[in-house]
Amino acid sequence: MTLLLGAAYYPEHRDPARWEFDLEMMAQANLNCVRVGEFAWSRFEPREGAYDFAWLDRFNEMAAEHSIRLLVCPPIRTVPPWLVEKDPTILLVREDGIRLAYGSRYTFCINHPLLREKGEALAEAMAAHYANNENVVGYHLDNEHGDEPDCHCSICRQKFQAWCRDRYGTIEALNEAWGTVFWGMEFDKFEQIPTPAVTKTHHNPGHLLAWRRFRSECTVEVVALQADAVRAQIDATVAGSAQFITTNNQPLWNNRTDYYKMADHLDVAGTNYYPPYGEDVRALALGLAMCRSYKQQPFQVHELRNGPHMIPGAAQNTPEPGEIARLTMHTVANGANAAFYFRWRTSPFGCEQSHGSPTGYDGEPKRAYEEVKEVFGHLQRLSDRIEGTSVKSDVALLVDFPTRWLMETGVRWNGPASLYMDHAKKLHSALRRQGVNCDVVARYQDFSPYKLLVVPALAAMDDDLVDRLASYVHQGGTLVWHPLSGIKDAEANIYPGRVHPKLRPLLGVDVTEFATLGEGESVAFTWQQRSYEGYLFCDLPTLAGAEVWGTYSERWFAGTPAVTRRDRGDGSVVYVCTFASADFYHDLFELLTHELSVPLILRTALPDAVEITERRDQQGNRLVFLLNSTGTAQRFHLPEPMYDLYHEEALEGPITLAPWGIKVLELQGK
Ligand code: GAL
Repeated sequence: MTLLLGAAYYPEHRDPARWEFDLEMMAQANLNCVRVGEFAWSRFEPREGAYDFAWLDRFNEMAAEHSIRLLVCPPIRTVPPWLVEKDPTILLVREDGIRLAYGSRYTFCINHPLLREKGEALAEAMAAHYANNENVVGYHLDNEHGDEPDCHCSICRQKFQAWCRDRYGTIEALNEAWGTVFWGMEFDKFEQIPTPAVTKTHHNPGHLLAWRRFRSECTVEVVALQADAVRAQIDATVAGSAQFITTNNQPLWNNRTDYYKMADHLDVAGTNYYPPYGEDVRALALGLAMCRSYKQQPFQVHELRNGPHMIPGAAQNTPEPGEIARLTMHTVANGANAAFYFRWRTSPFGCEQSHGSPTGYDGEPKRAYEEVKEVFGHLQRLSDRIEGTSVKSDVALLVDFPTRWLMETGVRWNGPASLYMDHAKKLHSALRRQGVNCDVVARYQDFSPYKLLVVPALAAMDDDLVDRLASYVHQGGTLVWHPLSGIKDAEANIYPGRVHPKLRPLLGVDVTEFATLGEGESVAFTWQQRSYEGYLFCDLPTLAGAEVWGTYSERWFAGTPAVTRRDRGDGSVVYVCTFASADFYHDLFELLTHELSVPLILRTALPDAVEITERRDQQGNRLVFLLNSTGTAQRFHLPEPMYDLYHEEALEGPITLAPWGIKVLELQGK
């Protein structure tokens, strides 16, 4: 399959006379695919059981004439009025007990049997209709699964109680696991367990973690329901069909679903991508690395911003000339094999009336159009070269949904809710700025391909995870560890010695004491004769085999270790005892990547403003992407003569990367 280059399009909207015009404009701008249908249930099934795909068929035929294929989206979480009329309890109940009114998307109970029955039937009908259609490239399940508020209706409550019975077996075991004796809330039977709705102060962390696991599984069930319905039709219709199943995730701002579990039901992982324009794009590249990690394969970007993003007042909202092309290439450089802009034409009605788009309310080109045309033109030409390559790395960051649930849910037991992902973004960015690729890896995945594994924080431990981390180190890996890691077990309870007993010999420290700092406060520490800052949390270890590598240099705990290191087996563990400043990670990772002989993508120093990424194929051929993340030209020297596939020119010696400029260097098997 070639790279998919497209946009979200809404043929169900009024004005079908514009289809031909819009398709012609798309073809001229080098689009080869459109994503359609995710909110069109009222057009696909205007009356119960009366499916109508004729309008989409007509659009599909016209699209095919322009060599534009369709990625069709069976909707499930945005339902037509007749379905609500049939049973108004299909509307979800918020945590404050209010049942939401009909009037917006994602306001429905995903556990409601009627929603599941009708949504599954629609997915099946759509796939039965399109499985044999060669112009349909695949199925994108609904939109942003997991983005609705948690539902607390009686269906969800009873299902949660049954889930608890399955997980814990007896009510005594649940009481023990959650420690319900605290504040005297021991349950007699599963039927007494509430959903964690609005209450005075705090819910029990064990209860909250169980609820998050449950809600994640509910979302994954709905994805599986749609995926199975579609797959059965594909398999029954065409042997070895090339049609695929995907959907769009929101890795950085939606913590409701364990996307690794969701991806088990997909053929290709996908994501939306709406970073602010400017330099900050790079800080959000963690979202792309996460999406790449779900299936450890190239992924698709199903929504990509391409203009002012609708919200006056938001910073870095409007792209300068060149920024859309650069953002598009940034997704490809980080492992995307498809890029869809959201949306092709701005809608003059409904919500989102000022959304960025390559064409205006009338479908005529806007400023972004020429840029889209240009970058998609380059990508069409390079499609064969890029396809078959993927992003590989020697270093990885362990990003974990159960940890997010524990650190982001409840009332600041673990610091600000943003701590975990902010720290993960800081670490990812510091690793990438060394001039190396950086993968994300999940707790379920193999750590052994990596020379360096960085843990931003890690909760909800289990023995298997601890054993695998220990064997990673013993077999030669270098593990970077942080506070709030290895402390809480799978039920959110803290280990008696405050760290999992098997981690103590690995870390070589005891950490029973700690200090916390206020937001905006910092504490200085020194490492390698330089001074850095730590924030929020300071573990105050006593040594039990580790060496001191850095010490706090102020407050009453000045002189206490702030960084320790311990060699174990063939590897080692670096314990950074606080959430440190970016300059520290820059220096630490520079030292560690050097020590571990992690090869730099280009053996040359690049200006910090240049993002560098590599994709390589099975034969070791490399494509090196250089992207200027600023509106200022960047100058540097190439270590040897190279060829820029993007501009089709040979390069040698000193080169200039234009503002927001792009180069794709071709390097053979090195
Ligand atoms: C996305 C969503 C789209 C649209 C877009 C607006 O999260 O999937 O349907 O609402 O945001 O930027």
